[in-house]
Amino acid sequence: SVTFTYQSGQLHAESVPLSAIAKQFGTPCYVYSRKALTAAYQAFDQAFAGRDHLICYAVKANANLAILNVLARLGSGFDIVSGGELQRVLTAGGDPQKIVFSGVGKSQDEMRAALAAGILCFNVESEMELASLNQVAKEMNRIAPVSLRVNPDVDAKTHPYISTGLKENKFGIPMNEAERIYLTAALSFSHVHVTGLDCHIGSQLTELEPFIEASDKMLALLDRLEKQGVHIEHLDLGGGLGIRYDQETPPSIQNYVAALCRCLDNRKQRLLIEPGRSLVGNSGILLTRVEYLKHAPHRNFAIVDAAMNDLMRPALYDAYHDILPVISKTGECMTYQVVGPVCETGDFIGHDRKLNLAKDDLLSVMAAGAYGMSMSSNYNTRPRVAEVMVDGDTVHLIRARETVEQLMAPEKMLDEHHR
Ligand code: LLP
Repeated sequence: SVTFTYQSGQLHAESVPLSAIAKQFGTPCYVYSRKALTAAYQAFDQAFAGRDHLICYAVKANANLAILNVLARLGSGFDIVSGGELQRVLTAGGDPQKIVFSGVGKSQDEMRAALAAGILCFNVESEMELASLNQVAKEMNRIAPVSLRVNPDVDAKTHPYISTGLKENKFGIPMNEAERIYLTAALSFSHVHVTGLDCHIGSQLTELEPFIEASDKMLALLDRLEKQGVHIEHLDLGGGLGIRYDQETPPSIQNYVAALCRCLDNRKQRLLIEPGRSLVGNSGILLTRVEYLKHAPHRNFAIVDAAMNDLMRPALYDAYHDILPVISKTGECMTYQVVGPVCETGDFIGHDRKLNLAKDDLLSVMAAGAYGMSMSSNYNTRPRVAEVMVDGDTVHLIRARETVEQLMAPEKMLDEHHR
């Protein structure tokens, strides 16, 4: 990582030592770098090299208002999947005209809110959803701009839980029905207006080839649609570019964008993408502290204060995250199972890590900016952790650590007379 580096034997976020952050804000704590986030956004933006484009950050990867606001200030658009994410983007100063709304199960309330806000496009995933949107738009006396999300049936070659573009996945409209539904939309639905074409094949892709295969299929469909008089203003190729967690060698942002632009060739459509992980993943780490060491006959356990509720990816996908000591040490390493305090065997942060540890040591769980905090929960009544953003030598608290009082506040016991 270029942002999280050792300086004088101590891991820093930009120019702030992580130990200072632990001291001021406590652990566990998510630490993000404004510089890393900005650099990733600009890498995408510049790679388009003058082609008409819109980068729609996939909010689900990390929905913190400060992250959204930094991106909004850079001119980013947003890919949302709920009314909640819409509200966050609007609060963070996002431009409604740069919002696309994805997801298989948009409710009519969510559609109403997005229509009222005046978003750029609804990525519609079924014929029934199209009818529902048409009805809502009609009631509001509006025209809903739509793309159909088409399932191109390509193998993203990623973890099955995060692969979305195979015909057996729940996502999108089957390729062979797309033309009929596009024509239906144009002819029979008075309050939707077809503006785009959309796909998303999966996440954490480490090869270009599935992206190219999907783009080619989408462009062939686009050409057929244009021939039938369905005008497509933009092509949305989704997100999915992977990052390096372990030994993966994903394409660079530059090569990825260049490949998409090559597929589009000299077509005039505006190109949209919906990157999540590749924008925020390497911009954040999870800072944690060793509570106890336990040396059982066959295994050594390092019990840290972060757990599966704070970072779910290892438990859910058996995902790998590097774990680095905040203060680099010489001396002998042992092989540790790095685990959290939650009462489940699946509660681990990393298996078989060679570390030299003592009680109270600080550890940094790397590449935790995407799908870390956004997937966290309060399991075991653990308040969600603090989030900070480093900007040069300044540290901003961007989400206070929750309190147990806050967790209990919405709850209510039965009245006393209900025996
Ligand atoms: N667009 C759509 C329609 C999506 O469903 C997703 C992610 C994205 C864009 C952004 O994909 P990205 O660029 O971040 O790969 N929780 C999993 C990842 C789930 C991704 C779901 N959809 C994980 O922690 O690996």
